[in-house]
Amino acid sequence: MNRSRWPHAFFASAAFYAMVGVSWGLAMGITHNHATYSAHAHLNLLGWLSLATMGTFYATLGQDVSNKVKAANFVISNLGVLLMIPGVGMYLGQMTPPAIYGPMIAAGSLLVVLGFFVFGVTAIRGLFRTVANAA
Ligand code: HEM
Ligand code: HEM
Repeated sequence: MNRSRWPHAFFASAAFYAMVGVSWGLAMGITHNHATYSAHAHLNLLGWLSLATMGTFYATLGQDVSNKVKAANFVISNLGVLLMIPGVGMYLGQMTPPAIYGPMIAAGSLLVVLGFFVFGVTAIRGLFRTVANAA
């Protein structure tokens, strides 16, 4: 994928989560059933805001980051959201047995954390490289 496409991919996935996330909020408001509010909150905060922030970084300060790192960050963070959020939703909505949502939450949240570490290490290394180049 062309370098400049990765920020767009982050924004496209973030926008998808935002559409689902706000619809979820609307559904809770209409039905007066807020049981799954935390899954809605994390879908918006992780899926929409965090992925959009990562996309913003790669579109601006992180333009020189390799495609491999951007791809890894994108795949890991998205897989994390796609496993963790439905898992938390099932847990809070008490729709399925723990055997189904348990592994989804465990694997999903670990992937989310890993995605933040890939992003964090990339951002911090980028800063050190910029400082070293300026010296
Ligand atoms: C049309 C848009 C939205 C609607 C109708 C909506 C609706 C709701 C509702 C009904 C709750 C449950 C409140 C409760 O029971 O305490 C909630 C919680 C929450 N929502 Fe949304 N929401 C929307 C968009 C968003 C967005 C865009 C974000 C974040 C970027 C967000 C973040 C949160 C958070 C963090 C909570 C948990 C707050 C707490 O700890 O009490 N929501 N929302
Ligand atoms: C692997 C990632 C994450 C995990 C496992 C996690 C886990 C949790 C847990 C266990 C709670 C308490 C829920 C409760 O008491 O019912 C919580 C609440 C909260 N978290 Fe997270 N969190 C994660 C990422 C984030 C991120 C990235 C943000 C913001 C950008 C965030 C914002 C919040 C907020 C605002 C609340 C209070 C509202 C709520 O209960 O949903 N979390 N989180």
